[in-house]
Amino acid sequence: MPIDSIRFRVFESPDSACACAASEIARLIRERAALNRPAVIGFATGATPLALFEELIYLHQEEGLSFANVVTFNLDEYLGRKPDDPLSFRSFMMRELFNHLNVPARNQHFLRGDIPKSTVASHCADYEREIVAAGGIDIQLLGIGRNGHIGFNEPGSSIDGRTRRVALAASTREDAASGFGGLDKVPNAALTMGCATILDARRIILMAWGAKKASIVRRALAEPVTPKIPASFLSTHPAVEFFLDPPAAALLRKNR
Ligand code: PGA
Repeated sequence: MPIDSIRFRVFESPDSACACAASEIARLIRERAALNRPAVIGFATGATPLALFEELIYLHQEEGLSFANVVTFNLDEYLGRKPDDPLSFRSFMMRELFNHLNVPARNQHFLRGDIPKSTVASHCADYEREIVAAGGIDIQLLGIGRNGHIGFNEPGSSIDGRTRRVALAASTREDAASGFGGLDKVPNAALTMGCATILDARRIILMAWGAKKASIVRRALAEPVTPKIPASFLSTHPAVEFFLDPPAAALLRKNR
């Protein structure tokens, strides 16, 4: 696999990148609805997808796009957080997206952060089975951590990894500290889809905005596939694209 096989597109702004991603999602939803079939979307949380969520809400509320045939799987969840905890990723998704769309509740899938330790492995295996039973993920949306993580697959993760419990990296916890009101309040562990789970998706769109992502975006695209940068695993996938704004792409032009 050539090292620089990941396609990337530089948009004039996050909003224009998200309009493009949203129209691709909308096309899939409409094509599948015409066939009476579901469209399976893998969602990420974080600041990055917020503009995409706004666009999807606009398409639903202003242009009548129905999400009735949409099935969703979220990438990850903090351990120790109940689903209705305002700081859980499930609450984030309800607040920022699902409360404003008509995705049927039974079609929304989340990992649960509040399950007993003894059931983590079976819960994660069930999640993998549910993805397969839904027909696999059609479009997986991703952000990228400044350490190169995708989902919570931190540096050192295996390309073969499946949904599992993970320890959070120091930089990941630091980045989450303000949202939690202090580093000491950030969970140490999480559940995440694995890199292999992500790579099973038929289409992957990784979004990155801003200068603080420029260095890791360059490394993910330019360095050989390495567990030090889990996002570099994406170059083994045939249908992945990075959607970037100019600051996030700033270090690419000089190097490619
Ligand atoms: P962000 O997080 O969207 O808040 O930058 C991305 C990530 O950590 O995957």
